[in-house]
Amino acid sequence: MLPVTSKYNVVLTYGTFDLFHVGHVRLLRRLAELGDRLIVGCSSDEFNRIKGKTCVMPFEHRAEILMACRYVADVFPEDSWDQKVGDIHRFNADVFAMGDDWAGKFDELSAHCDVIYLSRTENISTTRLKTVMRNWEDTAGKTTV
Ligand code: CTP
Repeated sequence: MLPVTSKYNVVLTYGTFDLFHVGHVRLLRRLAELGDRLIVGCSSDEFNRIKGKTCVMPFEHRAEILMACRYVADVFPEDSWDQKVGDIHRFNADVFAMGDDWAGKFDELSAHCDVIYLSRTENISTTRLKTVMRNWEDTAGKTTV
């Protein structure tokens, strides 16, 4: 039997990845399976402030956890909305891929590489985890994800 060959060389994705959870793991695994190297742009704390997003974990922790994930080859900071075209060329990305909560939002990048959206894992998100943790004290630990 012939070995399975990857369709792409470099796969590029972005995200905040706060409170790293199984939805993140499953997305990263499927992204890594698309190619030889998965490179992740992790939103910096400054960029999250611009997006109006508050993180539990600082950038350094989120990036370190991503680097420890077996599916991730490299991590770099995402500092702005408009760096993606430059990043695609800098990393020679063959495909830009995100979860489908972003479906259609980055189609213009298809002038530079393939653009795909993967389905999200249901019933888990950083926002949901934050809610569970907020409820935790109220319910004496009876709440589960
Ligand atoms: N993601 C996923 N499945 C989930 C949650 C996230 O596939 N259940 C994907 C997103 O689509 C995105 C990447 O993981 O491509 C990073 O998402 P991020 O916004 O960091 O995670 P969320 O859990 O969605 O965070 P939040 O609730 O703060 O929006």
